[in-house]
Amino acid sequence: MCGIVGYTGKKQAAPILLDGLRRLEYRGYDSAGLAVRAGNSLTEVVKATGKLYHLADKTDQGRSLPGTCGIGHTRWATHGDPSLINAHPHVSGNCSGSGKVESDVVGVHNGIIENYGELKEKLLRHGYQFYSDTDTEVVVKLVDYYYKKYRIGPVDAITRTMVRVRGSYALALMFKDYPEEIFAARKDSPLIIGTAENAVYLASDVPAILKYTRSVYYIGNLQVARLSPGCAKFFDLNGDEVALPVTEITWDAEAAEKGGYEHFMLKEIHEQPAAVRDTLNSLIKEGRIDLTAAGITDEIIRSLSQIVITACGSAWHVGMAAQYVIEDMVEIPVRVELASEFRYRSMPLNENTLVIVISQSGETADSLAALRLAKERGAITLAVVNVVGSTIAREADHVLYTLAGPEIAVATTKAYSAQLAALDAFAVQMALVKGTVSREQYGHMIEELLGIPDKIGRVLEDKERLQWFSSKIANAHDIFFIGRGLDYAISLEGSLKMKEISYIHSEAYAAGELKHGTISLIEKNTLVIGVLTQSRMIEKTIANMAECKSRGAYLMGITTNGNFAVEDSVNFTVYIPKTDEHFVSSLAVVPLQLLGYYTSVNRGLDVDKPRNLAKSVTVE
Ligand code: M6R
Repeated sequence: MCGIVGYTGKKQAAPILLDGLRRLEYRGYDSAGLAVRAGNSLTEVVKATGKLYHLADKTDQGRSLPGTCGIGHTRWATHGDPSLINAHPHVSGNCSGSGKVESDVVGVHNGIIENYGELKEKLLRHGYQFYSDTDTEVVVKLVDYYYKKYRIGPVDAITRTMVRVRGSYALALMFKDYPEEIFAARKDSPLIIGTAENAVYLASDVPAILKYTRSVYYIGNLQVARLSPGCAKFFDLNGDEVALPVTEITWDAEAAEKGGYEHFMLKEIHEQPAAVRDTLNSLIKEGRIDLTAAGITDEIIRSLSQIVITACGSAWHVGMAAQYVIEDMVEIPVRVELASEFRYRSMPLNENTLVIVISQSGETADSLAALRLAKERGAITLAVVNVVGSTIAREADHVLYTLAGPEIAVATTKAYSAQLAALDAFAVQMALVKGTVSREQYGHMIEELLGIPDKIGRVLEDKERLQWFSSKIANAHDIFFIGRGLDYAISLEGSLKMKEISYIHSEAYAAGELKHGTISLIEKNTLVIGVLTQSRMIEKTIANMAECKSRGAYLMGITTNGNFAVEDSVNFTVYIPKTDEHFVSSLAVVPLQLLGYYTSVNRGLDVDKPRNLAKSVTVE
């Protein structure tokens, strides 16, 4: 959601900024802009609506913008429509569009300033004029106001602004009096700084700068950064300098490239065996599950009387699957709550409650808010997160990292699978400690878990059939995904994968629920996809599918090898390898990901960057 980049160094800034923005495209955007400056000359601002290539064309791929210091932005509209006037950068002076600007402060912003209305009125009273509908223009002008009123330096002007604004933000600012410098600040929106010899990079996410450096600083909440070529200094809200540790990024640069695949999503689907294997290997040592890296001791596990899982979107679907697995294996109450609803529930949380927050990005605003509330209410918190150093990872009591590597496609695949594997391993360990499985069962489950990556590989080998089938359904209007128990959790993810990238309306239903209303939507040729992996529920779900068939539905079934009766009841069957039924989601989800992917491709859509969506949703 909005992407920020910045560069100050010895090279021409604009091509580097455009390259960084390209790598942040996955975050979602509808317009883009750059502000670049050469030494003491005026800052030049260029903006364009629509895809990034419009901005690249306007600037001859950045070559027509001289200057070695600059900031860039991709905007995902929140306040004001996606227009040139609302595109960032915004300036403190009287200007709204592209061109050389006299303004003292130029800035870009990611997040939402909640009290921008009242701040705007204040600034209007002080003679400021506004050209856009954005909250960003208000922040940039507020910084300018404090900068001039108190004749203080940029850091102090920014900290005064931070005290005054409410909401979330990552800000990058350039000041006319400080050539070659960029100032940045953040609260609850991601922003990282990369340093290299004679250069500093700024970005919303690591892939934007991975090509140039692996030495990264994670600016803390309510901290300010002052960046000049080769030098990054950090300050707290009092303006006192703070020392931050530098983190070495271990992802290889190719991990954030397409590597010969047509889309990131397809590449990431194929990376699932590795993502799951790496995640499991980090948790399973010498035949035992070891959660000590996450700080989860046997003593903590023994103390738990309930588990609450909270997350958004696909991560919430992982929670739904984990709920069935943990309840079945560990016999402990598990509740799954959408993070955006968490605060509206009066849940009894205490020191015997473990709240698990699942998030790929570690920056999802709703999940972060839920985490903070859970901590406030005295629960133990565990974050299952993919992005190292992200806000959720830093604020949770315990962190279990998934090792999926950078996920670029908006539609999550490998991070989902890695989360699922991590929680399955977690469930098995809990079951051992709580005494609900024997040592022998424990050993067997670990073997089954370790076999999952190869089995995912086998599911991928069957992708041509799904490619063929998706060409048949590309014009569908509605698709229903049904299942019972764990199969229902998988259906939820299958349905989201389909609708978010193919724009075909789809719904996931607990199979037994269809007859309570939804079945009236079934007509001739409506596609109903049944997930049929839980042996004690297969017959019942097949019966529900038959009810749909007799009303004209076309049926597809996903089931495990050996369940050949399914083939007799449905029109198209996909088989997945057999495994312990607790872990089958990791296999059943793969054909559903492929189906969503190929359907989107067949419909000629932007698979990796579906309309209106952002990879990391940093607003509530
Ligand atoms: O970064 P997070 O895992 O917290 O993101 C949560 C959801 O926004 C995310 O899972 C979303 O639903 C997926 N991109 C859908 O594929």
